[in-house]
Amino acid sequence: MPLPLFYGIVYAQDLITLEEKKMDHFAAVILAAGKGMRMKSTLPKVLHQAAGRSLVEIVCSVAAPVVNGEICIVVGHGADQVRETLGDGFLYALQEQQLGTGHAVGQALPAFSVLPEHLLVLCGDTPLLRTETLSALCSSYLESKADCTVMTAVLPDGGAYGRVIRNARGEVEAIVEARDASPAQKAVREINSGVYCFRTRLLQQCLAGLQPDNDQGEYYLTDVVAAMRSRGCMVNAFICEDAEEISGVNDRVQLAAVSRVLRRRKNEALMRAGVTMVDPETVYIDNDVEIGPDTVLEPQVYLHGTTHIGACCHIGPGVKIVDSQVGNGCEIGPFAYLRPGTILADHVKAGHFVEIKKSCIGKGSKVPHLSYIGDAEIGERVNIGCGTITCNYDGKLKHKTQIGNDVFVGSNTNFVAPVEIGDHAFIAAGSTVTENVPPHTLAVARGRQRNIEGWAPWHAENAKKVETE
Ligand code: UD1
Ligand code: CA
Repeated sequence: MPLPLFYGIVYAQDLITLEEKKMDHFAAVILAAGKGMRMKSTLPKVLHQAAGRSLVEIVCSVAAPVVNGEICIVVGHGADQVRETLGDGFLYALQEQQLGTGHAVGQALPAFSVLPEHLLVLCGDTPLLRTETLSALCSSYLESKADCTVMTAVLPDGGAYGRVIRNARGEVEAIVEARDASPAQKAVREINSGVYCFRTRLLQQCLAGLQPDNDQGEYYLTDVVAAMRSRGCMVNAFICEDAEEISGVNDRVQLAAVSRVLRRRKNEALMRAGVTMVDPETVYIDNDVEIGPDTVLEPQVYLHGTTHIGACCHIGPGVKIVDSQVGNGCEIGPFAYLRPGTILADHVKAGHFVEIKKSCIGKGSKVPHLSYIGDAEIGERVNIGCGTITCNYDGKLKHKTQIGNDVFVGSNTNFVAPVEIGDHAFIAAGSTVTENVPPHTLAVARGRQRNIEGWAPWHAENAKKVETE
């Protein structure tokens, strides 16, 4: 359920008009049909990931709260993959041939059952935009009653971005792509972010008149600006203060750069919410990860997917956690690996070189060293000795290991699943447990020890003989 438009904006005198504006039909188009040649990849550009999510997913989640209408994704290269990634909840328009950004928007309009009054257009390759910035763009557009407001930024060097050309009165006249720009135009430092608000009906009329008379022979969306001006329409620019936000990803160097920014934002938000990071530069946390206050993260921690970590935990160096839940007061690592579906209750320890997969571990239980726990349910206050392994895979199927409360598992135990261990049971070190163990029982499942007296000197004597022969 998208938030109402202008949620949280505070001009008291504007309350009534803002109420009215909420009723406006504001939809969005996200351009994601390009191949992204410069990525040199078989994967469509917008599906490359930054900080754990594809570029296009990030753009969709940033734009969704700003509009009250549908979001249409223009797909082309890898259309099925993009659809599969984003799922239902969006309109899709297929742009079979990538004839340019203007052509792409033209393909999107018929996807709307009712043409929206206002349209926010953005690219699937600009993942650093913030919802607040898009919301400010839309407010500025609506308040100015412009026919088009383009989001711009001022850079030290405009590089490959389109240049914003203004007239003597400072009004936006046109956008000229860098490759089509004259030297004087190239010197302009205000550039096009690729994000725009349009009055949809006017946009539709201007798109119909586009010509591919440019260096790339494409139908450019940017040419709509000059077309609108020649019809006497009002085009405004909304300058984005933080130019970093408009960074587009065209190659893998830029992909790494935006990933770094997204990670930094996430880490800063977590630190402000009470999480300690000994060295935030080396901590890699995906967008949807949640961490409680007073948890400490040591260097080289990787937290991925939908991982939730409680308060007051200590996550040691070299820990990787994927799609798992960790309760309060847990101690993880160093060098532990929690794989998807791991659920640790409060005050659990998963120590060094411990791997846990799809297992629940009860309150206060400990797996302190060198263990593999997979497909297991372990109760409360259990101690799992060093080197214990659940043998969960028989070559075809995975099987469960169930361990009750207050069980003591000696070092170097193998649990050959499926197997069940009752409460308060005691497993002797070195056991290979193949049968269920009832509650309160000691299980010893290993070869009996045999001592042969005087064997060692006899052996030494024998070895000497062999050497001299
Ligand atoms: C575009 C703008 C440029 C702006 C820059 C901001 C044009 C002509 N140029 O340039 O002024 O400074 O973005 O990042 O609009 N796409 C399609 N179908 C197509 C072509 C592109 O869906 O036929 C999509 C791409 O997948 C991409 C987006 O549109 O997500 C932008 O295309 P791209 O080729 O990256 O445009 P830029 O050269 O970056
Ligand atoms: Ca681009």
